[in-house]
Amino acid sequence: MTLERPLSSLEGRCALITGGASGIGLEITRMFASRGARVIVLDQNPEAARNMENVAVASGSVTEPSDVKQAFDVAEETFGPVDVVFANAGVSQNCPTLDLDFEGWRRVMGVNLDGVFLTAQEAGRRMIPRGQGHIILTSSIYGVVAAPERLGYVVSKSGVSAMTKALAVEWAQYGIRVNAIAPGYVRTPFVDDLQARGRLDIAALEKRTPIGRLIETREVAEVAAFLASDASGPITGQIIGIDGGWTAYGYV
Ligand SMILES: NC(=O)c1ccc[n+]([C@@H]2O[C@H](COP(=O)([O-])OP(=O)(O)OC[C@H]3O[C@@H](n4cnc5c(N)ncnc54)[C@H](O)[C@@H]3O)[C@@H](O)[C@H]2O)c1
Repeated sequence: MTLERPLSSLEGRCALITGGASGIGLEITRMFASRGARVIVLDQNPEAARNMENVAVASGSVTEPSDVKQAFDVAEETFGPVDVVFANAGVSQNCPTLDLDFEGWRRVMGVNLDGVFLTAQEAGRRMIPRGQGHIILTSSIYGVVAAPERLGYVVSKSGVSAMTKALAVEWAQYGIRVNAIAPGYVRTPFVDDLQARGRLDIAALEKRTPIGRLIETREVAEVAAFLASDASGPITGQIIGIDGGWTAYGYV
């Protein structure tokens, strides 16, 4: 009797995760590694992902083409060809538009948009010759709807959502799937930082969310694992909301 590999299996897959040393990315790194994947983390501050079984780290910035290329080289040398790429590194921007200086605008565009472009393009370079691969981008509810005082974040994440569709339709012919996750508010250092700076009212956010609570990192990682696996076979070009009903809600 032969035992069939479940479509949801990540066993033996090689995944490269940017921003994989904190918050959502760290949870995905842990989950993928615990399910038999080998993971390379590209992060500008990768310490938290060091010394984990089946995980290697590359220190660098997604805004530097040479750092991105080097992370793929390290992944291939350490674990073999990269099957799954998760372009997840991102930064927040939360202030009135008239206070957003050009440097701040460039910073959020640099990480959230240039970094995702560089990561996805390098993934395509490696995956297209192999005729297979899954690319997942981290968008946000603010890549779908808008909020005041988050211009750079909303524009960059909307760009990530658009990039998901554009790459999906361009690379489907090569066997590559491209999807995005669009989380609502997830309890991470990213959210803790906004709360500490008085830029977020957690109780108000919970009240605004139909399920009445923030999202857990583990819940985001489960969706990422599904998208990274063959269980999500024909799904491509989709922005998958993980938002507790946030973007469906139209009442006051
Ligand atoms: N936390 C939320 O509520 C939430 C909601 C929706 C979307 N997101 C998105 O999810 C992603 C992860 O967010 P998080 O909450 O886990 O954040 P986080 O701050 O906890 O982690 C982000 C990680 O990215 C790394 N990073 C930042 N800039 C980098 C760069 N230039 N190069 C390499 N690494 C870099 C950081 O070192 C950190 O390890 C982001 O794209 C964010 O926009 C977060």
